[in-house]
Amino acid sequence: MSRFGVCCLLLAAAAPAAAQPDELDREPINYRTAKADNVVAALQTRINAGKARLAFADDHGYLPALLKELDVPLSSQVLVFSRTSLQRERITPKTPRAIYFNDDVYVGFCLRGDVLEVSAVDTNLGTAYYTLDQQPDAAPRFTRERDRCLTCHASPATGGMPGHLVRSVFTDRTGLPVLSAGSFRTSHTSPFSERWGGWYVTGTHGRQTHMGNWVVANEAAPRAEGNAGGQNVTELKSRFTVANYLTPHSDIVALLVLEHQIECHNRIARAMIATRQARHYEAMLNKNLGEPADKKWDSATRRIEGAGDQLVEYLLFSGEAKLDGPVAGTSDFAKEFAARGPVDKKGRSLREFDLRTRLFKYPCSYLVYSKAFAALPAGVKERTLRRMHAVLTGQDTSPPFAHLSAADRTAVLEILRDTLPDLPRYWAR
Ligand code: HEC
Repeated sequence: MSRFGVCCLLLAAAAPAAAQPDELDREPINYRTAKADNVVAALQTRINAGKARLAFADDHGYLPALLKELDVPLSSQVLVFSRTSLQRERITPKTPRAIYFNDDVYVGFCLRGDVLEVSAVDTNLGTAYYTLDQQPDAAPRFTRERDRCLTCHASPATGGMPGHLVRSVFTDRTGLPVLSAGSFRTSHTSPFSERWGGWYVTGTHGRQTHMGNWVVANEAAPRAEGNAGGQNVTELKSRFTVANYLTPHSDIVALLVLEHQIECHNRIARAMIATRQARHYEAMLNKNLGEPADKKWDSATRRIEGAGDQLVEYLLFSGEAKLDGPVAGTSDFAKEFAARGPVDKKGRSLREFDLRTRLFKYPCSYLVYSKAFAALPAGVKERTLRRMHAVLTGQDTSPPFAHLSAADRTAVLEILRDTLPDLPRYWAR
């Protein structure tokens, strides 16, 4: 089986592969050998230069120090108890795995785990994977993982490219997924009712129901059993020893944000990779056919535009599942996240929450401010910004954007004009 194409049992039921993963090992991406450009690589450089230190704590190892160095808030903690990831044998409903994240990086922690697991948004590779041994060391070293993470993280579920994952599965008391009952891949388009199987969820959400906090007793018919006891849970003490974790929360708003952003990161990565591959292919074609080096081919342009359009749709929350709120978390996540800004001249920010009918007040992802978005190759960046501009100015009213009211479009347009650096000139009033 190919290095990138192996697919664990659980993920086999997902969408068909969009890319030919082995291509990533070749020019122009060279996934295994190319230099990484992400916050973990930068931290390693600081550690090597003696400019950063990672303290090792008895109970959580490098976790607290790593989160601090990477500026990942503790309030982002979410807890997953399905045995669906690398350190399976450590994960049960009594010993969930914790995940922490910010706009650039995700950190996974298992109690008594051998390693910390890290996935980082990378401007060169798309997504890079690392482990850090949970052993005290004077000079801790991250290991860049080129194979074993990708068996799951570069599967059909991530379009065949290295990418982030959230799944929702019916989970039994040992943490094993009840696969016969089906499973869901989660993004901001997932209905509330299909989210969080195998996850703890703290927060209130009115009458709408989800699959969180549910340890399935009747494996033969989980759907019939139902999850009445899993709704509107605000503390987890009765379910496992919360004191083993850095916080007692698995905040519902953090989960909603995580699920928006993993797919958004995947689409940014795909746009970057598709563009570089298309341009590379074009250059080869021109060389082989003796055409001028700058000759453009429609097939390459279409591939780039397609990747840009998919990104625009997601950035503007096309297909977002409706909330029947109000939804409120239990930790400081929402407050801290919203406070990060930036704000426009009227004090508005893309990080302001709605949490009544949708996740955010202004339906445009804050990931437009991320380094990965800023670093997109010119062709796809231009396509993305042009299409966004057309949608936000009301020239493009195509069906994927029917959810945007005139007021939404104007507000997002104004916020971006004020806050997003380096917009092309046609964005000005
Ligand atoms: C057996 C499949 C599998 C393997 C192997 C695997 N993961 Fe994952 N990973 C998952 C799944 C599924 C999730 C979604 C959360 C969950 O179910 O635990 C996930 C989530 C994550 C997350 C949270 C954010 C994200 O990127 O989705 C991180 C970080 C992560 N994995 C890191 C790693 C690293 C690093 C490796 C390799 C050292 C790795 N994983 C290997 C299945 C796997």
